[in-house]
Order: sequence, then C-alpha cells, then structure tokens
Amino acid sequence: MTSLIVGASAGLGRALAESLARRGQDLILCSSAMEDLDPLAQDLKLRFGVAVACVELDLNKLDSRSLADTAMHSKSIDRVFVVAGSSTHQDAGPVSDDQATQLIRVNYEGAVRIINFVLPNLLEHQAAQIVIISTVAANRPRGRNTVYASSKHALEFYVKGLRHRFADTGLSIKIMRVGYLDTNMGFGEKRPLPKLKPDHAAELILKSCAQPGLVAYIPGWWRPLMIVHRLLPWFIYKRINF
Ligand SMILES: NC(=O)c1ccc[n+]([C@@H]2O[C@H](COP(=O)([O-])OP(=O)(O)OC[C@H]3O[C@@H](n4cnc5c(N)ncnc54)[C@H](OP(=O)(O)O)[C@@H]3O)[C@@H](O)[C@H]2O)c1
Repeated sequence: MTSLIVGASAGLGRALAESLARRGQDLILCSSAMEDLDPLAQDLKLRFGVAVACVELDLNKLDSRSLADTAMHSKSIDRVFVVAGSSTHQDAGPVSDDQATQLIRVNYEGAVRIINFVLPNLLEHQAAQIVIISTVAANRPRGRNTVYASSKHALEFYVKGLRHRFADTGLSIKIMRVGYLDTNMGFGEKRPLPKLKPDHAAELILKSCAQPGLVAYIPGWWRPLMIVHRLLPWFIYKRINF
C-alpha cells in the first residue's frame, strides 16, 4: 500500500507518517517546506525499511510544477490523507482578505484540487481510500472560527459528493472530525477539554480507517458531545462563547 500524506511535516501528519511506516506502508510526503520532509523521510526509511518520496507542495500556491511532481508518483497511490490545515486567532472575524484567501485555499481549495488530481489514479485501484482530517469545529457554526470551520465543512461536502458519485466502486471515503490536539496549531491556547497527543490521534485514525462508517470522531467521546452541541436551542447557543 502507498499513502500520500498532504501536510506530513509536523503534528498529526508527521505522526500518521510514522504510524503508517510502522505498518510497512510506503509513503509520499508533501508539505510546503522540503527541509522538514527530507530528514523525516530518511528516518522512516532507516527505521522501518519502507519507500518514502517527498514532494514540495504549497496548498496556498498550487502550481503546475507541484502538481506534476505529485503526478510522478500518483500511479502507485491507493490512499490519500489530507491532513494539512491552517487556522488563525483573527478568525473571529472579520479577517483580512489575505487571511481569508489563505484559509480557504489551504483548508478547502488546495485540498479539493489535490484530491481531484489524484482521483483518476485512485479509481484504478480495486480498493482505494480518501481520508480528510476535519475538525469538531465543523459540527455547528461558531463565531470563533468562521472561515476555518466553513472551509472544513465545505471540504466534507465535497468528499461526500465523491462518495455518492463513486458508490459502486472500491473507493472509500473517511471524514475524521478531530478534537483538540497537542500540536503547533493552537499552541499556547487554553482549551476547555484535554488535548490529544498526535501519535495517539494517528493510531485512532488508522483504526477508524479500517472500520465502516463515513464520519469518525477522534477521540470517540466527541460524538455525544457534538450531538448535544447541535441540538442546543439557539437562545442558549448564541450566549455560549467557547
Ligand atoms: N491542532 C488542533 O487542535 C486541531 C483540532 C482539530 C482539527 N485539526 C486539524 O488537524 C490537521 C493537522 O493539524 P495539526 O494540529 O497537526 O497542525 P500543525 O502541527 O500546524 O501541522 C500542519 C501541517 O499542515 C501543513 N501545511 C500547512 N499549510 C500548508 C500549505 N500551505 N501547504 C502544504 N501543507 C501545509 C504543515 O506543513 P508546512 O507548514 O511545512 O507546509 C504541517 O505539516 C489540520 O487539518 C487541522 O485543521 C487540528
């Protein structure tokens, strides 16, 4: 099996790369900074004896060269993890035009373009999988992260469309709604609930990939919380600030 990880240089993507390599899977690692990917690739090759290729790819500035570099490897890819994400404190709005553009490109537009680009090759495999890393913030709109959460929600909508379109093929779609993580994203920010270590989250995600169902919550205890969150009446919900 060969997995493409978009956003593999840090945090959850890096942890997923290690968990997959430990399982003997070959990898194609992408992020916007090659200098972080190369040492990771060398380390994984040495420790786990897997094949690892790296592609420099900036979701904020996707160009034909980075897509062509990805294409060089796309024949072998049978699983895609779209992990890369971007958020900002200013997202309580209104954000600047530059920030809004960057958030939409990284969390939605770039992700859609990469999936769309590798899709024809994925469909040639008998069993292929697309896994997107979404967020519990996509559960119900909140004023704190308007552009980030709506971009993630839009990405969920896109892959749900693919699931419908290719329902009679071997393509499986997984949406991982991840809770708070102990990573660079949100570093130093106080959270009302515990943060999960990225290596633990990676293991939970890989277990969920092997199970039926479209949407998984990581960790699973977020699911009942999110049901309650969705059901809160508006006159209460509008007063909550978290
Ligand atoms: N942290 C949380 O509390 C939390 C909660 C819920 C969901 N999530 C989601 O979980 C995923 C992983 O987040 P994380 O916490 O592991 O974040 P992180 O530690 O900040 O890592 C983000 C990864 O995305 C890559 N990335 C960012 N911008 C990119 C771009 N323009 N082009 C290509 N790659 C880019 C980064 O690589 P480069 O910077 O080297 O390009 C890095 O590998 C994200 O989708 C995030 O939305 C996180």
